[in-house]
Parts: sequence; C-alpha cells; structure tokens
Amino acid sequence: MTDPANPPVTIRMLGAAEAVAARDALAALLVDAVAHGASVNFMAGFTAAAARDFWDGQVPGIAAGARHLLVAEAGSELVGCVVLSFAQQPNAPHRAELGKMLVHSARRRRGIGRRLLGAAEDAALAAGRRLLLLDTEAGSAGEMLYRSRGWITIGSVPDHAFTPDGRLAATTMFYKVLAGA
Ligand SMILES: CC(C)(COP(=O)(O)OP(=O)(O)OC[C@H]1O[C@@H](n2cnc3c(N)ncnc32)[C@H](O)[C@@H]1OP(=O)(O)O)[C@@H](O)C(=O)NCCC(=O)NCCS
Repeated sequence: MTDPANPPVTIRMLGAAEAVAARDALAALLVDAVAHGASVNFMAGFTAAAARDFWDGQVPGIAAGARHLLVAEAGSELVGCVVLSFAQQPNAPHRAELGKMLVHSARRRRGIGRRLLGAAEDAALAAGRRLLLLDTEAGSAGEMLYRSRGWITIGSVPDHAFTPDGRLAATTMFYKVLAGA
C-alpha cells in the first residue's frame, strides 16, 4: 500500500502552459541545486526571481517543440527535472542536448535522477534524436550518474566554469548514441 506521507515518484513531460504553472516549483528546485553547490551555470546568491527568469526563458522553446521539459513528482511536489533541447541546425536533426538535470537535495540517491535520464533518453528517441550530448562538472554526482547509464566521455576541459562558490573547475563532456527499438 502507498504511504501517503511518501507518495511514489512519477515522471512526466510538461507542456508550455504546465511549465508556466510549475514555474515557482521549478525555480525552487534550481535555487536548491545552486545552494547545494551544483555547477549549473549560476553563482552563489542565485535568487528565486532569477530562477523564475531562467524558466520563463525556456517556455518559448517548449511551446515551439524545440525543447522538452520532464519533471519528477512525488504526489503534488516537484522533486526533479531535466531539459532536452533539440539541435535546431538543419544539419543536425538527429541531435539533442541534455541540461538542468536536477533532483532536490532532500531526494537524492533514490534513483530519481536515473529515471529522469531514462525518460529523457526515451523522449529523445521518440523524437528521432539518437545522438545526445551533455556536460557536467568533472567529478560531480552528475558525472557518476551519466557514467552509470553508459554515457561516453569525450574529455574534460580544465577551468571551464566557476562553481557557485567561485572556484574554477573542469567540465566533462559526454555523448550517448541511443539504440533504436
Ligand atoms: C546528479 C543528480 C541529478 C543525481 O540525481 P539522483 O536522483 O541522486 O541520482 P540517482 O539516485 O538516480 O543515482 C543513480 C546513480 O548515479 C550515481 N550517483 C548519483 N549520485 C551520486 C553521488 N553523489 N556519488 C556517487 N555516485 C552517484 C550512482 O551510480 C547512482 O546509483 P546508486 O545510487 O545505485 O549507486 C543529483 O545529484 C543532482 O541534482 N545534483 C545537482 C545538479 C547537478 O549537478 N546536475 C547535473 C549537471 S546538469
């Protein structure tokens, strides 16, 4: 029987209107990630208002079908997300990039990230995007997650980006070729 205090986690894709409705929860998730040291483009002191601006900027792409937003929910609580962005260049209709893979700091190491990644890979394949790319801070939890799901390391770029607390860190670039059904 389901424990009402601990509802099962489900993964689903949000349309543009749903993304707008979930904006505050998505912003809280991003603020939580940065506050816990995740290198996801932002620096310490990142505010909910700035995070809302970030998600607002994602909505036109979602509406245009250039990007998919998948979320993990425990009951009504948004506990994770990932963004799949389709390459727009005419010579890259087979390619997509993953970003903003986030699981709330209180919900990590329970398999949610793995499920989000699997759902994003399935969505990419369903959209005909067989080549996926992403990058993440070298040595981070994300790097372990991607390795555990068969992503291939292209290499690491030293001093690629600042961590939220202002330390230059290397970034590892990954790719994965999805096998068709
Ligand atoms: C990366 C992140 C999404 C992983 O989410 P998660 O739900 O904790 O991951 P999972 O529980 O599904 O872990 C799957 C596997 O990844 C690896 N892994 C995940 N976190 C790890 C960690 N902190 N240390 C070592 N391995 C880790 C393990 O192999 C794990 O399997 P296991 O628990 O059976 O050993 C989460 O840590 C996060 O949100 N981090 C901050 C944001 C970020 O850096 N995102 C990636 C850059 S875009």
